[in-house]
Amino acid sequence: MASDNTATLTPLLDPLLPTSTAVATAAHATRLSEVDRVIAAIDEAMRTVWGQHSATRPCPQPDVVDTTPLSAEQQREAAALMRVNHVGEVCAQALYASQAWGTRDPQLKAHFEAAAREETDHLAWTEQRLRELGGRTSLLNPLWYAGAFGIGLLAARAGDAVSLGFVVETERQVEAHLNSHLDQLAPHDHASRAIVAVMRDDEVAHANAAQEAGGVPLPAPVRGLMKLAAKVMTFTAHRI
Ligand SMILES: [Fe+2]
Ligand SMILES: [Fe+2]
Repeated sequence: MASDNTATLTPLLDPLLPTSTAVATAAHATRLSEVDRVIAAIDEAMRTVWGQHSATRPCPQPDVVDTTPLSAEQQREAAALMRVNHVGEVCAQALYASQAWGTRDPQLKAHFEAAAREETDHLAWTEQRLRELGGRTSLLNPLWYAGAFGIGLLAARAGDAVSLGFVVETERQVEAHLNSHLDQLAPHDHASRAIVAVMRDDEVAHANAAQEAGGVPLPAPVRGLMKLAAKVMTFTAHRI
């Protein structure tokens, strides 16, 4: 009788056992992959803030030969402006990383990751120019990165269209900001100007790409807040 019962139950239990094991394994794998993501994000943050970056494109070079030296004041100001730009690029890495983290759309994630790779060129170029000018990167870079990562996560939580709209607005503000640097740099600081001009053109392309991908305009108060945050960042990074 007992063997008859076992024979009856076995086909019923058999499919359950592997399923429960599979569920437990999948849950474990999900936990592991979450941990992996956190570790990867921390690794990326540390490499952005403290690592040396190499560009995939050559550093933009001036198309004029002008050996007029910069005065000490012009050199100091150019280094301060380049530090501000470098902080902007640190923030760009954090924003794209968090927005890639926050979207569930694999295509959009790939879009953000590709944009972040292109921004790495900007990071490398501004670092190189800072060294040439005898300047240094911002001491507050870990703070800038953390703040921007948080803001990017908030944008991502508002949905993909808003997240893309946030990219459009950010890149447009950076474009305006880089244009203002072209006004402030010494006219004969061709090396800095060449870098800033190419960065500005890239930021325009990033804004257009995000717009075409479906970015929606942000409400005026949000745009105002972003401008205010950018002002605080540029004022501080110019000095620290
Ligand atoms: Fe950039
Ligand atoms: Fe950009």
